[in-house]
Formats: sequence, structure tokens, C-alpha cells
Amino acid sequence: MADDRPHLVVFTGSGISAESGIQTFRAGDGLWAEHPIEEVATPQAWRRDPARVLQFYNLRREQVRRARPNAAHKALAALEKRGFRVSIITQNIDDLHERAGSRNVLHLHGEILKARSTVDARMQYPLPRGGIALGDICDKGSQLRPDVVWFGESVPHFGEACDIVAEADLLLVVGTSLAVMPAASLLEHAPLDVPSVLIDPEAHALAPPGVTRICQPAGKGVPALVRHWRREGRLWLPQTLLG
Ligand code: APR
Repeated sequence: MADDRPHLVVFTGSGISAESGIQTFRAGDGLWAEHPIEEVATPQAWRRDPARVLQFYNLRREQVRRARPNAAHKALAALEKRGFRVSIITQNIDDLHERAGSRNVLHLHGEILKARSTVDARMQYPLPRGGIALGDICDKGSQLRPDVVWFGESVPHFGEACDIVAEADLLLVVGTSLAVMPAASLLEHAPLDVPSVLIDPEAHALAPPGVTRICQPAGKGVPALVRHWRREGRLWLPQTLLG
């Protein structure tokens, strides 16, 4: 049966997990400053030095396991529990949306808590104890790798994500520099008359014109907006929060 409730589509980036203690990527002290992309997050890096790549993701996985959902993740989950129709599309490979209670989450860039075969992306495995090690293999005898999308790889769920955005009644973007394609181009798939709002403490030049900005950290901006929606029982953009 068709779901005719107003549809909130939320597109999140690493900024929503920053207040949970997970590093973002492109800040001066971000993950890519410490670990260059070409050394840990490309198919070439994997071919050159798989042990280094595995170590990088095993460390990140520990960071994710220690983290807890913050007020932004929780507010979105609470909205869904209240009966709102909420679809989350995340660039994040952590599971903080799910741990907060959101049930409708699409991971564009994969999930760090899953392992998969190197030769067949459909062959997924529970994570070996202690993370993935060299020598952990799939049923076809190939090395396991993290189930994440590296630079230079295609984004398998992108088409599905575009279809979800095309059905939005309001698009909420949280904590992303919108620097990475094709993910950032998702915003262009929203119908023209659909309001879009970006919550991010930095004012980014990359957000397309027409996107309303709330320059606040996610842990403050998201719960504030959600409170308005829950109070009124509808999706709208209160003028007092904008600007
Ligand atoms: N609340 C909201 N946003 C925040 C917060 C916060 N507390 N702290 C930082 N941010 C914002 C930053 O201002 C920045 O705009 O989060 C954004 C993080 O941007 P990036 O580091 O570029 O990360 P992201 O946009 O998630 O990267 C996209 O790139 O490297 C790849 O695959 C990786 O999924 C990732 C993709």
C-alpha cells in the first residue's frame, strides 16, 4: 500500500557523528590529513598494501564501537517512532543511526561492521573476531575486505538513493561538505518545489543555491528542528531557526 504521509528524507555525512567522537574527513585535523586517501581508501592502495588498509579500517571500527549515538541521531529516530515517515541516506559507514533506533537507513558508502569478498561484493560475512586479518577468506578463497566503497569504485545504492530523494517532501542535509560525487549530486534529485535545509556549523560554498542553511552543530540544530515538527505534527521550516 502506498505511504501517503509527508516524507522526510535525511542525507547525512560524517558531521552528524562528530559529536559522538568520530572524526570527519576534510577538516585540518580530519581523517584524510592523518591517513592520505591514496594510501588507505582506493583499490590501488588495497592491491599495494592490503595489510595497511585492513589496519586502517580495523582502527576505525574500534572508534565506531566506542562511539554512542548523539542527540541528532536520537532526534531523527524519535521522529520516526512518533509516526513520521523518515528515510535516512547516509554517507557514513558507522551504525549510529541504527543504534539510535532509525529503521530506514541506506548506507551509500557501505558499512564498516560488515566484511565482504574481494571477488564478489554480494558475498557478505559477519566480521571476524578482532577485525579482518590477511588470510581471512570468502567461500571462493579470496581475501575478505571491509564492505565499504573506496574512491574510484562505483556506488551500488546510488540509483536507489536518487529514487528516495525524488519522493521527498522535505530534504534535510546534515554534516557534510558535499565534496564527494556522486553522493553530493543527490540534492539535485529532489523535486524543485521541495524545501532543502543544510545543518552544518560551517557555511559551505558547495551547497547548491536554494538550500537553506542552519549554521549549527548537528547535536543542536537537528533536535531543535525535530522539536518543531513533533510539536506541530507536520514538516515545515520555522523562520526563527533559519538565517
Ligand atoms: N555537526 C554537523 N556538522 C559538522 C559537525 C557537527 N558537530 N562538525 C563538523 N561538521 C561538518 C563539517 O563542517 C563538514 O562540512 O561535517 C562536514 C564533514 O565534511 P567531510 O569531512 O568532507 O565529510 P563528508 O562530507 O561526510 O565526506 C563525504 O567523503 O571521504 C569520503 O567516504 C567518505 O563518506 C565520506 C565522504
